[in-house]
Amino acid sequence: MNKGEAKKRIEKLKDEISHHRYLYHVLDKEEISEGALDSLKNELYKLEQAYPNLITADSPTQRVAGKPLDKFEKLSHKERMLSLFDAFSSSDIKDWQERNIKVYKENTGRDIDKFEYYCELKLDGLAISVTYKNSKFFRGATRGDGKVGEDVSSNVKTISSIPLELRKISEEEYKDLGFSEAEKVEIEKYIYEDSIEIRGEAVMSKAVFESLNKEYKKEGKAVLANPRNAVAGSIRQLDPKVANSRKMDFYVYGLSANKRLRDLCKTRAREDKLLALLGFKALKENKVCTNLKEVEDFQNYVEKNRNSLDFIIDGTVVKINDLSLWSVLGVVGKAPRYMMAYKFPAEQVTTKVLDVIWQIGRTGTLTPTAILEAVKVGGAVISRATLHNMDEIKRLGLKINDTIIIERAGDVIPKVVKVMKNLRTGEEKKIIAPSICPQCGSKVEQKEGEVAYRCTNKNCFAVKFKALSHFVSKGAMNIDGLGEKVVEKLMQEALIKDISDLYELSVGDLEALERFADKSASNLISAIAESKERDLYRFIYALGIRHIGEESAQNLADEYSYYGKDKDENYVNILNMLNFFQKYSLEDWQVLPDFGPKLAESLYEFFHDEKNIELIKKLSKEGFQLKTKDVNKKDLKLKGKTFVLTGSLSSLTRAEAKDKLKELGAKVSGSVSKNTSYVLAGSEAGSKYDKAKSLGIEILNEEQFLDLIK
Ligand code: IVH
Repeated sequence: MNKGEAKKRIEKLKDEISHHRYLYHVLDKEEISEGALDSLKNELYKLEQAYPNLITADSPTQRVAGKPLDKFEKLSHKERMLSLFDAFSSSDIKDWQERNIKVYKENTGRDIDKFEYYCELKLDGLAISVTYKNSKFFRGATRGDGKVGEDVSSNVKTISSIPLELRKISEEEYKDLGFSEAEKVEIEKYIYEDSIEIRGEAVMSKAVFESLNKEYKKEGKAVLANPRNAVAGSIRQLDPKVANSRKMDFYVYGLSANKRLRDLCKTRAREDKLLALLGFKALKENKVCTNLKEVEDFQNYVEKNRNSLDFIIDGTVVKINDLSLWSVLGVVGKAPRYMMAYKFPAEQVTTKVLDVIWQIGRTGTLTPTAILEAVKVGGAVISRATLHNMDEIKRLGLKINDTIIIERAGDVIPKVVKVMKNLRTGEEKKIIAPSICPQCGSKVEQKEGEVAYRCTNKNCFAVKFKALSHFVSKGAMNIDGLGEKVVEKLMQEALIKDISDLYELSVGDLEALERFADKSASNLISAIAESKERDLYRFIYALGIRHIGEESAQNLADEYSYYGKDKDENYVNILNMLNFFQKYSLEDWQVLPDFGPKLAESLYEFFHDEKNIELIKKLSKEGFQLKTKDVNKKDLKLKGKTFVLTGSLSSLTRAEAKDKLKELGAKVSGSVSKNTSYVLAGSEAGSKYDKAKSLGIEILNEEQFLDLIK
């Protein structure tokens, strides 16, 4: 290949690569695989090595070019990089519109009663200004003080979603955007014969940020606080190779420094479309809103879905869509009147510490958790915050009753940032580590050289964990989305201590946990609420009474449906059930089918245990609607009678006989006692027959029995 041919091939390769860059990095589409794209780049690189004077600055091979810098050059912005006014509520936004209506009247003498808006995501990254000369990347700069920034071109060029050459817009595309031929010619003049400057936000995705921090941790480096810091650090470091390794992204949010070009676009919405056609990534979520109600809806929608975005946003930016109004409304101080940052609810708020509880972890470690006066922070209601350990409490200087600042950033667990010591009243109480475990009452110790306090009972956490896991499990209350991992997490975060706490959880409590997006949090809360309508036997089984399996639980549920449940009760009143079963003596329990002394003892103990009574009382306030078999009590011919079956029957099975008896209100027991009313003796009746005889209990044969139940 001679130089002339190489030149042609190089041009073709550059065009092709830049087309695929646009598809891949801007439109999230791919026509050819990454591997294929890499081999095109490789061919280009080799050709450029062979003919170094054919290398141009806009070549894709030049994204990572140049040696590390000593420092960044300062440069003046053609148009000042402004900041934004903040709004925090719908009334702030309304006031803003009112002010603009007034200013409009003052400046034009005309009336206007509303504006159309273009609502955008407010990305939390670093503002960057990129200039193109004759359609080629010229330089990239930071905001600096708004007037003078730093030339960070070599790092900005490493961001793949920034084109090195502006994309050629087709006739068709101009037409689609509604530009006339004359307007198109004028726009192209700026692009190809002059310069244009665009502004946008460099961001780092949550995923890249997390993997970067993982790496840092491994290398023993200090971790970065958030993606914004990570971007700022990456853009403002001196080696482009490092910037290149920190995969960043760039979203454009405006044309700058050219009023005429803006006038041609007419609206911010059309400007966004034009920028996208020039090869930039514009935000798909951005939306035209024709009134404040729609602005409000957009804000709520974005806030609800913010966690599903790849990157962090801290609100929206509401812009007056008609660009000709921008110069009418003007700028006050450092911020324009024609746009407003509409921030999400505060992520730092003050609240009071009502109490500190100690939560046991898997390893027996006791972790202090602050119980807070509930507050809304970052859009969620928070009533607890972890305090980690005694050292953290000391570091904060925290006491019970203190006013504190808590923070909830993005989706992370709320943390206590600061104690407002000036607000103390003298009512504050010192926080003391417990000497006995709040879970099991065993001794607590602090090993020498360790921060943590530990419960000395090795099974402490395990017992509660097992009980809770059993309660929510499939065969029991069957709460979808509440596996063992989640139970463990909830226990560790002190969100649940026992079963009744499950029903007190709120979406806000869960959202604060890692990996709980809005949707899964509300799904879980609905699943928990839904479990209140289970069959009674599942609930009894879920209580985890010793020796009570699913079948015995069914027997207990039947027992209550037939003899305990009030006929006016649509659903089981668990408090009534508790009272009813508390009256059962050890002997009474053994009247239930197949309930021996072991079960009787366990049930008697369970229903007389203070903790269990307390739990059932708490649960009874949660509005359970547990279902039982519908028993028609009017017809209970055999109510109060107890039967024992022995031997085999010819016209029906023993199970059928049992069911029939239960239907008629009789109890069926496994063993003969003085409480037995009848023994039904089939053929080959055994010892039960003899016992009945000795106790003088009436014995029925099959025929007599059929007669009785007719
Ligand atoms: S418009 C007038 N649009 O927010 C200056 N800014 O708090 C604002 N930002 O420095 C430019 N997303 O870096 C605009 N969709 C968006 C934005 C956005 C994020 C940043 C921008 C600015 C900061 C102001």
